[in-house]
Amino acid sequence: MMNANHWIRCSTDLGSASCTFQKEITPKTGLKNATLSVSSVGLFEARLNGCKLGTAVLTPGYTQYHHRTQYMTYDITALLGDKNTLAITVGPGWAVGRLAFKDGIHTYSDHCAATAELVLTYADGATETVVTDESWQVFTSHILHSDIYNGETVDLTAEIKPLGFAVKDETAAKEFPLVPQQGEDIVENERLAPVELIVTPKGERVIDFGQNLTGYVEIRIKAARGERILLSHGEVLDAEGNFYNANYRSATNRIEYVCDGGENLFKPTFSFQGFRYVRLDSYPDVEINFDDIRAIAVHSDLRRTGYIKCGNEKINQLYHNTIWGQKGNYLDIPTDCPQRDERLGWTGDAQVFCRTAALNFDVKKFFHKWLGELRLDQQPNGAIWGTCPENFSLTDYHTRVSAAWGDAATIIPWELYCIYGDKQILADNFEMMKKWVDYQHGFGPEEYLWLGGRHYGDWLAMDAGPDVYMGATSNDLIASAFFARSTELVIKAGEVLGEDVSAYRELYANILKAFRAYFLENGMTKEQYPCTCYTSSGNPHDPFRRGLTQTAMVLILHFNLCLPEERPAFEQKLVELIEAFDGRMTTGFVGTPYILHVLSRMGREDLAFNLLFEERNPSWLFSVNHGATTIWEHWNGIKEDGSFWSTDMNSFNHYAYGSVFDWVYGVVAGIRTSECAPGYRKFTLTPHPDKRLGFLNCALDTVSGRMESNWYYKGEDVYFEFTVPAGCEAALTLPDGYTATLTGGSYCFTVKG
Ligand code: BGC
Repeated sequence: MMNANHWIRCSTDLGSASCTFQKEITPKTGLKNATLSVSSVGLFEARLNGCKLGTAVLTPGYTQYHHRTQYMTYDITALLGDKNTLAITVGPGWAVGRLAFKDGIHTYSDHCAATAELVLTYADGATETVVTDESWQVFTSHILHSDIYNGETVDLTAEIKPLGFAVKDETAAKEFPLVPQQGEDIVENERLAPVELIVTPKGERVIDFGQNLTGYVEIRIKAARGERILLSHGEVLDAEGNFYNANYRSATNRIEYVCDGGENLFKPTFSFQGFRYVRLDSYPDVEINFDDIRAIAVHSDLRRTGYIKCGNEKINQLYHNTIWGQKGNYLDIPTDCPQRDERLGWTGDAQVFCRTAALNFDVKKFFHKWLGELRLDQQPNGAIWGTCPENFSLTDYHTRVSAAWGDAATIIPWELYCIYGDKQILADNFEMMKKWVDYQHGFGPEEYLWLGGRHYGDWLAMDAGPDVYMGATSNDLIASAFFARSTELVIKAGEVLGEDVSAYRELYANILKAFRAYFLENGMTKEQYPCTCYTSSGNPHDPFRRGLTQTAMVLILHFNLCLPEERPAFEQKLVELIEAFDGRMTTGFVGTPYILHVLSRMGREDLAFNLLFEERNPSWLFSVNHGATTIWEHWNGIKEDGSFWSTDMNSFNHYAYGSVFDWVYGVVAGIRTSECAPGYRKFTLTPHPDKRLGFLNCALDTVSGRMESNWYYKGEDVYFEFTVPAGCEAALTLPDGYTATLTGGSYCFTVKG
């Protein structure tokens, strides 16, 4: 463990400019090993003799800093010479810069600080430790300004000036407890070349990288000293083909570089942008050479595990959009979006998408870190906030405790346990899971229901009228349904862990009873409920919310909240509600992840596929038809007439609706782990082909090995090819009802049409 008492800072207030702490290192002869640990308040970049250490960027990542601040460790043995310069440059980042909607707040500290510890071990066993202290010199840097939301200014003509010696930072030592790195490295990944230089109708020069992504632009250029590059970023062009980024709200995402006359390589160090287009607001009078310009995708270093390809190019594009949505929003924490003045760990978004995420990529370590943050953020009464890390200086909007958002505390550990088969995930989070359920249990006047509160509801659903954020479904119904689901998951987790969960079993039975008594009558939900918000949540102009919505039916059916004999009536109502909306969905963040699962469980795969293939708004393919390369926040971020949703809330890189792919992996390919033998030691193989898809190739690299489910049509006949890893057991059910138990090996079957 790194010693926590060696924090230093610059004695001058540099605002958002960076400074560099520097120390000469002269090892004695006989050096055997040199290990360096570094952390910062704000972000840091460490260099030894001018070379950046490690491949990670935006270190030390984003955590609940006052509870734990990560330090990074580097083996620098091979890099040390006789005389060395160790330099640590710091910038505001998440901890010191601006976060969320408020302007100019220093969320965790009003200044940057650094700490380092270098342990030199010699052949004779002697050790020497060099730490950050008042002997380190401080210099200005070329980074004159940086901010996560607002971008960065790098001026290579700026003179590097000494600022004297560092001073000890006792506050940082108290307020930023150090822990070894918990999560994955944030690294530079794909490097995309520009696809086109557009001159827009307004006459502006805009580079199109062909892909909405998270990261930054790198430019290699030789221009006259003092020449400036000024870049604005945007995700989409407007209907006229002009540059547009009003949806970034207050995040300016402006990058400014000043050339020094030599050949320069520019990219930001302490900022990142979400963008596809870059407008050249100012560019030196030199030829724009595409070979020298790259958009670098920056995200957590996750191993890809899931692969889907089918015979429908639009669905392939949708899958591509989901993968890129995950890349862009898994940047150390699961964020809502990577571009506007949010980029926060919204718990609901993370919950909705986590199963798809864990099938696409290995996210075990990524979530190990974030769930650690969630545990630290949980309040003594069990409350889980809307965002994590929660920093409590955010607006009232962020500090709601909302159903389906707080349930990240139970749903994510359970989903990860099923996919990775590791009980430790449940053991680590069981207390949090129970406390969350206890919070819901203790809320409001009805012991077994969650009535009232301040929820985000069925966020962005389409059934409350055009341009309304919160869908029509009753928040009380959503909250009570998730109360039931979370309680059920505590019971399941407790059973795995061998805990006594009898009290939760009783609670669950009572919730089911209370839910039926309060929300259902004659085998159906009541049409309308008064909105029992205790405060200003919900739609103030709409004091009534509905029980008869698609999302209400979906939750009741998916969470088994009605009696088995009542299911057909709810199923029928769901079908009617879809028909009433002209065969389309009205669901938002809460209902969408489950609606196709519910339809296929009803045996109505035909309807599920209809929704998947739907192209009118709202639908998944609506955005694909509008050229989307990531998943949109709104079903209709760009409307039929080409106009935009309000700039308040219109991200073009919000992964939540990408959750449809857990249905494609689990139902269309049909690979689903058994909860009794998690980690796919036993799994069901129940593919559901549809001719409109032509063929499907699905491969999953699970902890039990690679499994594949492929099918294709020849005329009306369907051919299946499966791979089951050694040591696993698959319960196969083909569409014609044929069943078999498959063990390790490859298999082919045909179902005649
Ligand atoms: C975020 C969402 C989030 C929501 C809460 C928005 O500002 O971008 O994705 O879940 O607020 O309703």
